Amino acid sequence: MKKIREDFLWGGSSSAFQIEGGWNEDGKEPSVQDTKKDIPEGTTDFKIASDHYHHWKEDVAMMVEMGFKSYRFSIAWTRVWSYEKNQPNQKGLEFYHNLIDELLKHKIEPIVTMYHFDLPDYLQQKGGWLSRNTIDEFAKYTKLLMENYGAKVKYWLTINEQNIMALASGAVEGGKPRSTKDIYQCNHHMFLAQAKAMKIIHQMSKAKVGPAPNITAIYPNSNTPEDNLAAITFTNIRNWYYLDVPVFGKYNVIAMDMLNKLDSMIDIQDGDMDIINDPLAKPDFIGFNYYATGTVKQTDPNKNYVSKFSGQVDQQTGFGLQDFFEQVQNPNLPKTQFNWEIDPVGFKNTMLEMTSRYNLPLLLTENGIGGYDELDANNQVDDQYRIDYYTAHLKQMLEAIAMGVDLIGYNPWTAIDLVSTHEGIRKRYGFVFVNRTDEDLKDLKRYPKKSFYWYKEVIKTNGKNI
Ligand code: BG6
Repeated sequence: MKKIREDFLWGGSSSAFQIEGGWNEDGKEPSVQDTKKDIPEGTTDFKIASDHYHHWKEDVAMMVEMGFKSYRFSIAWTRVWSYEKNQPNQKGLEFYHNLIDELLKHKIEPIVTMYHFDLPDYLQQKGGWLSRNTIDEFAKYTKLLMENYGAKVKYWLTINEQNIMALASGAVEGGKPRSTKDIYQCNHHMFLAQAKAMKIIHQMSKAKVGPAPNITAIYPNSNTPEDNLAAITFTNIRNWYYLDVPVFGKYNVIAMDMLNKLDSMIDIQDGDMDIINDPLAKPDFIGFNYYATGTVKQTDPNKNYVSKFSGQVDQQTGFGLQDFFEQVQNPNLPKTQFNWEIDPVGFKNTMLEMTSRYNLPLLLTENGIGGYDELDANNQVDDQYRIDYYTAHLKQMLEAIAMGVDLIGYNPWTAIDLVSTHEGIRKRYGFVFVNRTDEDLKDLKRYPKKSFYWYKEVIKTNGKNI
């Protein structure tokens, strides 16, 4: 029976726009998250977030106290490169040098996401991912990162949740809906950008690199062959599409069939597949985010399905695609306070499916539970529900490892509280409470939650206390 590795990367995760704040400080330029106009009512925007830009040192100190072996965060492209001046932004580069150096000083391995939903608005105005120019800009950005951090950072993640960006694109690009054809053309360009980035990383450093899609096992709602077909279809469109391209270098037939039937076939130019198939452009591991499984059934010909391809939706919002699948709730699963299903066994199922399909090391880059947390009179936060969620998932993780899954690390969402993608800071995920609300910035002080002490023990015992 395989055991958890001694060098297992126990850590936590975050993303630049959700944690940093300082949105226009020291030469940072706006990303699509800063120019977004449709912030849901009653929730905060990302201008101050958890103010990590000014609290990063004490935040790292909290991670050190928890015993983190790794910290997965993203670099804001708009902080390190100025499109206005067409040159690197030294102050922005310095910020991440300081953060990385502080982590390394405490033997915390930085795991860096290059791009987490925050495309420079400058590029968006020039067509965003629909323009092939963005592919070249991403390659240029990769070189800048390698020149600066290539010798310090051993683990890189290219694009966070490319699949959710395609499925819920409107939410990421400031609510501006694109046609299905354009969305999948953007998606193709992201695959090319990712392949070029992987090659550059392999050429310019000894680091390892992987994608970071949101992967989750898909269940059929019943044992009818039709529901099973819907599940096979959805898992290919939602999951394998995003791993088959970088790992196998090809588009799977089910994804292609969908594009064909939706009259949305992408334009693959001569040489594109060579870029994707370059031996240096292959991932060393698969980074993946897991929250909960999905359940689908065959579609009803008399129903009108609202496509998820544009709008304010998240990865758990059910949607349907006529003749392909309809996402439904799974009555066997409990739900979080924010109505997301909870499926620890599904976590194991997901890892087993990925391992048998790709046989690559896996790195968990997100898993977690959003809930309403409050400070009590003694400045403590009793988030036992979070401990229960993690305990259940870690039990399954240990079983998956025992069965042979090569998992190299677990970096749950999130290290400290930050702003949810579209539900404000009221939906908290952290081991550390940040004292602010959506309406009131308060003092932004940091307080360890109950889960902080629990996770510290998990890391200290390398999971033996689970
Ligand atoms: C993932 C994203 O989809 O899920 C994160 O990578 C996000 O950016 C997380 O915050 C949780 O989703 P939400 O909608 O609750 O913020």
